[in-house]
Amino acid sequence: MSFNSLASHRTATIGGPGHPPYSLATGAGSAMDSTSLGYDPRKVYPENGRFYQAWPRGKYLFPCDDVEGDRLDIFHKVFILARNGQYLSAPLDHPGEKRILDLGCGTGIWAIDVAEQDAAQPVFVRGVDLALIQPDMIPRNVEFVQMDIELPWQSMGRDSWDVIHMRTLIGSIYNWRMLYDQVIDHLRPGVGRLEQVEIDFTPRCDDGSLPPTAEMVSWANDLFDAFDAHGCSLRIDSLRTRNLLGEAGFVDFEEEIFKVPVNGWHPDPTQRELGRFLCLGLTRGLYGMSLAPFARMKNMSLEQVMAKVEKVKVELADRRIHAYCQVHVWKARRP
Ligand SMILES: C[S@@+](CC[C@H](N)C(=O)[O-])C[C@H]1O[C@@H](n2cnc3c(N)ncnc32)[C@H](O)[C@@H]1O
Repeated sequence: MSFNSLASHRTATIGGPGHPPYSLATGAGSAMDSTSLGYDPRKVYPENGRFYQAWPRGKYLFPCDDVEGDRLDIFHKVFILARNGQYLSAPLDHPGEKRILDLGCGTGIWAIDVAEQDAAQPVFVRGVDLALIQPDMIPRNVEFVQMDIELPWQSMGRDSWDVIHMRTLIGSIYNWRMLYDQVIDHLRPGVGRLEQVEIDFTPRCDDGSLPPTAEMVSWANDLFDAFDAHGCSLRIDSLRTRNLLGEAGFVDFEEEIFKVPVNGWHPDPTQRELGRFLCLGLTRGLYGMSLAPFARMKNMSLEQVMAKVEKVKVELADRRIHAYCQVHVWKARRP
């Protein structure tokens, strides 16, 4: 396989430096810091021992460091296993090169896998993200661009994308209706499809083995509250999404829901493997996911955040608790 360097793509910044208002946490700088003082889009800033994206400062609540990159890559495995090996269910109907846009692509693992998989069909994949955390060596048919997808899209190719994909962006987006409006405008009329994959961190259980007082229940509720306080919900609401997509003009809405065990408690070997990966991802990622939301929005000390996370980890290791989370896949078409 031939590769080219990411470096040539990294200079591109689509969307411009201005940002819509959003709530800024205590301790975080203001968005103006990173824009008016000549922002460096590659800059990160340290906070409580983790690194966060400095452009735009304070907007995104999860870190952008290597530990978080590991979490994202482990979750990638979870999503692919949960979907029975499927990366994309949208049919690629029209002949010729397929253009796929991945919004908030994170480490780029999904975009690269999709570009490498489809040897039979020519595919071009563009991943966009606030953070430049993608690898340097990438396949020729992939590019990564730094962009805030909540700003007006410039030079993104209206009517040109076969699929616009996003995964786990709930908790990142302040105005979903505005984003869906831009997505529909950039899909190919008639055939272009949106595919959105989200995880609902609410722990669920069908056999009563998860007490309502469980630490993981309290953790999820606190996390949802903290994101609410930040002005950017982490709650999954399928009906709301369906309505927003309909208002934006999408048709053929479909939803798939997959159960993902939180550890290896399940008797079925495939579900057990899936659960082990989610457990690994959560164990690796819980602290990073909790730190800024709890410290900034709930005024918790680092020790309090750590103690809470450790209690959840103990439950995650307990296979007598038959808890699971749900993965939602939403699909819709531009008419
Ligand atoms: C939870 S991660 C998911 C990454 C990737 N989609 C995956 O499934 O592995 C969310 C990603 O969205 C990016 N992000 C958040 N808000 C964004 C925005 N307004 N514009 C572009 N990217 C954004 C973050 O930098 C982060 O990489």
